[in-house]
Amino acid sequence: MIFSEELKKRAEFAEDVLKSYLPEETGYAVRVAEAMNYSALSGGKHLRPVIMQASYQMFGGRGHVVEPFMAALEMIHNYSLVHDDLPAMDNDLYRRGRKTTHAVYGPGMATLAGDGLLNLAYETALKAFAVGLEDIKAGLSSPAELTEEGTLQTLMESITKALSILADKAGINGMLGGQSADVDAEERNRSVDLEELLYIHEKKTACLLESALMIGGVLCSVGDDDLKRLEKIGHYVGVAFQIEDDILDVTGDEKILGKHVGSDEENGKVTYVTLKGLDQAAKDAAEMTDRALAILDELPASDGFLRELIISLVTRQK
Ligand code: IPE
Ligand code: IPE
Ligand code: MG
Ligand code: MG
Ligand code: MG
Repeated sequence: MIFSEELKKRAEFAEDVLKSYLPEETGYAVRVAEAMNYSALSGGKHLRPVIMQASYQMFGGRGHVVEPFMAALEMIHNYSLVHDDLPAMDNDLYRRGRKTTHAVYGPGMATLAGDGLLNLAYETALKAFAVGLEDIKAGLSSPAELTEEGTLQTLMESITKALSILADKAGINGMLGGQSADVDAEERNRSVDLEELLYIHEKKTACLLESALMIGGVLCSVGDDDLKRLEKIGHYVGVAFQIEDDILDVTGDEKILGKHVGSDEENGKVTYVTLKGLDQAAKDAAEMTDRALAILDELPASDGFLRELIISLVTRQK
């Protein structure tokens, strides 16, 4: 397996799944549908659904039930970015090498497009019940299941648990909580210490990565100890990911990064780099990645692709 080719293939699959759940561009709501599709299909790396599927397969999952969750998580991620770029938030005009949603559709429509993606995420995730039933009919249920009755019960329980993880990790105790502390510090010109910055990084960025790993596992009925391990891996990978994002906001090449370099400084943001400096930030991101890999090794199952993906994130250029 050549890692870069495998990643490309898996990201393309994630995009196909996402596409299949995005809205049609017709009717009086056409403009918001266009804005939703513009932001969701604009060359994102699709890391979260790729990680979710890798986690699902690592625990033996063979069905399609993970797919609505892959699409839903990517929709939540995209909604968070559409809103993050708004003039009232980070006020960014470029993302993924092209204009941000509000720069093309205006802030009102971009706000609605973000809301639309968030709502569509739950509409989509709820479809997992129907998809899971089809999996059972096709003999593709997850390995933990025994009798037919047990199968149905396990399916209902695991989908319900996955839905609750998705919702929790996106909400006030998750990504939204982190974004809120981030915006509050900026708007009220409040200083942020390392403890709060770590809260912001964990919540705004790690939580969605945690949910990717956890949902993959939950859909295969992993036990509580392994679920905690998956959450921890997501925590370290996610905080390292945001540290790297802060580094790239200083050292990145705009052409490769596809975002405006120096945005954090212009917004007067406290970042991992402003608190710890570039060198220490890079060291800490590498150390957190090592911690994530050590916990990955404690899992009963292993996946070489996931391991390589986690390693690749600390040296990424976009
Ligand atoms: C960007 O995430 C936002 C952060 C959490 C730092 P990604 O770097 O995964 O964004 P895309 O989807 O690939 O553009
Ligand atoms: C992460 O923080 C944003 C979200 C969780 C939505 P940033 O504001 O640093 O992300 P970028 O740099 O704009 O992608
Ligand atoms: Mg931001
Ligand atoms: Mg931003
Ligand atoms: Mg950033």
